Amino acid sequence: MVRSTRAAAPGRVNLIGEHTDYNGGFVLPTPIPQKTRVELARGEGRLVRVRSDQAPAPAEYALGRERPRGDWLDYVQGLTWALGEAGFELEGFNLRVTSDVPLGAGLSSSAALEIAVLRAIRAAFALDLDDVRLARLGQRAENDFVGARCGIMDQMAASLADAGAALFLDTRSLEFRRIALPPAADLIVIHSGVSHAIAGGDYNTRRAECEAAASALGVPQLRDVSPADLGRLAQLPEPFGSRARHVVTENQRVLEAVLALEANDVARLGQLFVESHASMRDDFDVSVPQVDLLVDVACADERVFGARLTGGGFGGAVVVLAAAGEGRGAGERITRAYAERSGERPTLLVPAG
Ligand code: GLA
Repeated sequence: MVRSTRAAAPGRVNLIGEHTDYNGGFVLPTPIPQKTRVELARGEGRLVRVRSDQAPAPAEYALGRERPRGDWLDYVQGLTWALGEAGFELEGFNLRVTSDVPLGAGLSSSAALEIAVLRAIRAAFALDLDDVRLARLGQRAENDFVGARCGIMDQMAASLADAGAALFLDTRSLEFRRIALPPAADLIVIHSGVSHAIAGGDYNTRRAECEAAASALGVPQLRDVSPADLGRLAQLPEPFGSRARHVVTENQRVLEAVLALEANDVARLGQLFVESHASMRDDFDVSVPQVDLLVDVACADERVFGARLTGGGFGGAVVVLAAAGEGRGAGERITRAYAERSGERPTLLVPAG
């Protein structure tokens, strides 16, 4: 019997630090209980066969002949392509993928898939790759094969974050520190029911706008603009001034959130969530009316400290900070009230059912 290798990786929810990673800034994600699981059996020749519980039919391709098809298989093809580019020799394999990380919810289903597959390949072919390298290969696959110009946050979170802790990551140096989640609060994650596609143009447009703003300001990345320089941003033409203001203030909010986490000051953390959401909505323009409504409904709950859109935006999930022991009750109340008011079909993902 052929021995198979199993591996898994979680989705993530970003607590704060949105659209900062591709600007060299700070992020603070934590894993969610939902995971992508893979089973890999080595095969013969150069053929890769993939079967996913989220796709109607199995798919296959040959190593060394990866070509984008514009669908989910590109994430797997992109990984073997990136490994080939990095000089790793693989042989054909059969892969089975199952996942309960929702697609299009801003919870990083793609990075969960990438890291789970890379972990299985690393084990099956005894590749010398550390966890940071796995994250970089996942990002390379998305950037240069799939065509989504994402930063490194999601792959780092899927590869390195531990349950019960947030990963405070400097995306420029890749230095990171794990910080325990605050005992005084429960996290809630609710998918608004409005899905997004990260490979879509809006995300890449935001990234291009940030790069244009940095170049107009004469800095390598928006990370290099200090909060003391906020006045200069007002001189940039729109939308570049607003986009830059979001990134500069959001980096500052991540640093403050780390202090709040370490002090177990959940009221302050909640306030930072609310400010971050307003910045994503008004300056970065990545929210949608349904998500704004979900955030408002959450913030109106008396057991809630704050709420915000998480992930790339244009739909997706919100992260809510509630009083300890109140997460499930508040999550159910918010999900119900939002469903009634929006007509959408939201899902309470954390606390997991
Ligand atoms: C997506 C990308 C990340 C990051 C977030 C926004 O999840 O994959 O790299 O840019 O959006 O913070």
